[in-house]
Amino acid sequence: MENANVKVRIWKCSERMTHLVRNSDGDDCLFIHAGAGSLFCDYGHMTFSEGDYIVLPRATSWRIEPTEPVTMLMIEATNGSYMSAERGVVGDHAIFDPAVLEYPRIDDAFRAQQSSTESWQVHIKSRNQLNKVTYPFNPLDAVGWKGNLTVFRLNWRDIRPLMSHRYHLPPSAHITFVADGFVICTFVPRPIESDPGALKVPFYHNNDDYDEVIFYHKGEFFSRDNIHPGMVTLHPCGFPHGPHPKAFATGEKHGRKETDEVAVMIDTRIPVDMTDAARAVEDKAYVNSWQTPPNAE
Ligand SMILES: [Fe+2]
Repeated sequence: MENANVKVRIWKCSERMTHLVRNSDGDDCLFIHAGAGSLFCDYGHMTFSEGDYIVLPRATSWRIEPTEPVTMLMIEATNGSYMSAERGVVGDHAIFDPAVLEYPRIDDAFRAQQSSTESWQVHIKSRNQLNKVTYPFNPLDAVGWKGNLTVFRLNWRDIRPLMSHRYHLPPSAHITFVADGFVICTFVPRPIESDPGALKVPFYHNNDDYDEVIFYHKGEFFSRDNIHPGMVTLHPCGFPHGPHPKAFATGEKHGRKETDEVAVMIDTRIPVDMTDAARAVEDKAYVNSWQTPPNAE
C-alpha cells in the first residue's frame, strides 16, 4: 500500500544479501516480524531479532545476513524523516527509555566484512527508480562516526504502554514514531480497562481523518475473528469498524482482563492506494466479516 507520504510492504529475506541497498527517497523503518540476523550499514554492524524496529536514515547503505529466515514490514517515510513522538506532560522517558536504543558498532564483524578488492553493487532507489552503482571495493568501510544521525533499533518489549483503568486512551497515546503525514503506533500487551463504567477497547468507530493500516505481529487478537499474525488490515477513512461479533462475544463471556496482542499501526493522513502486490493477496470478503453468522447466538 502506498501514497505520497508512505509506502508499506512486506519483505522476506532468507539468504545473505550479496548487494547493498540505499533508499534515497526517504527514511525507512523495518519491523522484524520473524527471524534474526545481522545488519551491516554505513554506521557499522548490529544484530537484530523478532520484534525489533530498525530505523534507517534516508540514503543509508545497508544489507542483512539472516541467521533465521526474515520476514519484515517495511515502512518508507517518502521524502520525510522519522521523529520521536511528542510525549507532553509524561516526558521524554515515556513510552520507552531512550537508553534502550541500540546502535550499530564498528566491531570485529564489521571489520571482517570489509574488502578492498571485492566489488560490491549498491542498488539505489531514487524517485522510485532503481539504479545500480558498482564499487571495486566494499563501501561499508567506515572507521568511525560522530553526531546523532544513525541507524537505531528498538524492540516492542521495551515499550511500556500508557494506560488508565478508567479512561480508554486514544491511539495517539501509543505513537512510537512520527513522520510527515503519518504516524506509527505500537500496540503491546496491556490490561484492559477495569472500571465498570470505562469504555473498553476497542469500541466501534470510524477514523474521520486517517486511513488505518494495521499489521498483526503476535498474540491473540481478541477484537478480530480470523485475523492471524502476518496479516494486514486496511480500514479507510470514514468506514466504521470495531470488534468482530464472535470475538466480541468471546471476550465478554470470558471477561478478558488483558490483551496480549502486538500490532503495528500506520495511521496516514491521506488515503493509501492498494499496489498490485496487495491486490494479489487481498481477502475481498473481509468487508463482510462483521456480519453475524447464521445460527450464531
Ligand atoms: Fe480503527
